[in-house]
Amino acid sequence: MTILQQMLRVFVLILFAGGALAQDGPADGPRAATGGAQTLEDILARQARQPVDDGFRREATGDPDAAAPVTAPLGTRGGASDSDLWRALRYDSADVTTRNNGPAATVLIQDGGMWWLRFREGPLLGYGAWFLIGTLGVLALFFLLRGRIRIDGEKTGRTVTRFKAIERFAHWLLAGSFLLLGLTGLISLFGRKYLIPTFGHEAFSTFAIGAKWVHNNVSWAFMVALVMIFLFWVIHNLPDRTDVKWLLKGGGIFGGGHPPAKKFNAGQKLIFWSVILLGGSISLTGLALLFPFELHLFAPTFQKLNDLGVPGWLQEGRSWPAALTPQEEMQYAQLWHAIVSLVLLAIIFGHIYIGTLGMEGAYDAMGSGEVEEQWAREHHSLWLDEVKAREAGTDRAGTKGAKA
Ligand code: HEM
Repeated sequence: MTILQQMLRVFVLILFAGGALAQDGPADGPRAATGGAQTLEDILARQARQPVDDGFRREATGDPDAAAPVTAPLGTRGGASDSDLWRALRYDSADVTTRNNGPAATVLIQDGGMWWLRFREGPLLGYGAWFLIGTLGVLALFFLLRGRIRIDGEKTGRTVTRFKAIERFAHWLLAGSFLLLGLTGLISLFGRKYLIPTFGHEAFSTFAIGAKWVHNNVSWAFMVALVMIFLFWVIHNLPDRTDVKWLLKGGGIFGGGHPPAKKFNAGQKLIFWSVILLGGSISLTGLALLFPFELHLFAPTFQKLNDLGVPGWLQEGRSWPAALTPQEEMQYAQLWHAIVSLVLLAIIFGHIYIGTLGMEGAYDAMGSGEVEEQWAREHHSLWLDEVKAREAGTDRAGTKGAKA
């Protein structure tokens, strides 16, 4: 016991003159001395941030038989004291009737929100901002070191169709909606701390209401586009042996020639699956935020991960909370939504860089849909071979058909 704890103990003893609180676990259990209430050990342990077994609070809640008799020290009034009521409210076991029937309407006290608020206002903003700025810095450094990836060989002047109009439509719907969601999401996340001091509450309020409206409504376009690109491109993004070779050569980014690739190389497949998985996860948690308290994503997920023993990999004996109040579900949904969005934003920064400034000839694929044949030979040689073979096949069939 530290000196501070000892001093505190003495202080509490004097305060409760008589020391009923201070008796250390008589034969019939430590709570007999306190009439079933918490003990000095509990208080000290809580202050030292040690785990406290406060099951006695829930056990006594609302059950007059479990309550301490009024004659005992700190006894309750027959199980119906004010503290019992507050306890029941705190542990969400009180029989509350409300006029609003929303799923969380009967939860009147929720004391699990402070860590979320502090995390959202502190580390999430701080690390989040540096993460995005750092990503831009890394891309700038990469550009300085590597420069623009040029088409090495002689241009042919011929083009090959890379993406059909409907594919480009889906891509730009995805890109446009994601960038708008990213911008309006960042305004919501960082606005309170960085924009209110500059623009004031009034101006920011109008701005934030607009940003929220855009964010809520544009989300549907993102989800539709996500499904479209998944259906269009999943077949070309299944991993295969060429990806291993491509990755072993680092994509030829720092020399070593151009490793062969099909329609999408391993780097692009990673982008595709990041967009699908992270974008899917952002969509799911976004829906949970859009329809408050309707989706319960985290409690069942934590339960499954606990069953698999995943938290134990990080710290022995650890488990994640598998019983969450509706508000806690929302808090986890908000954090996950924001963190995964920041990660996907950083990945997309890299994608936009390589699709524009970083590589000569790449933008045309999504601009006009036609790419220079030499670009295709250097970056997607196996795909170009397939296209050529298909064209030759169609030509032959066409010639045969014409002759017949
Ligand atoms: C201004 C923004 C953007 C530009 C200039 C851009 C450019 C491009 C280009 C040129 C391609 C074709 C690459 C090729 O021919 O192989 C492409 C593909 C793709 N884009 Fe974008 N894009 C942008 C934003 C986005 C966003 C925001 C997303 C998703 C949230 C996205 C997801 C994809 C995916 C999944 C592919 C296929 C895989 C790949 O090529 O990496 N793009 N993009």
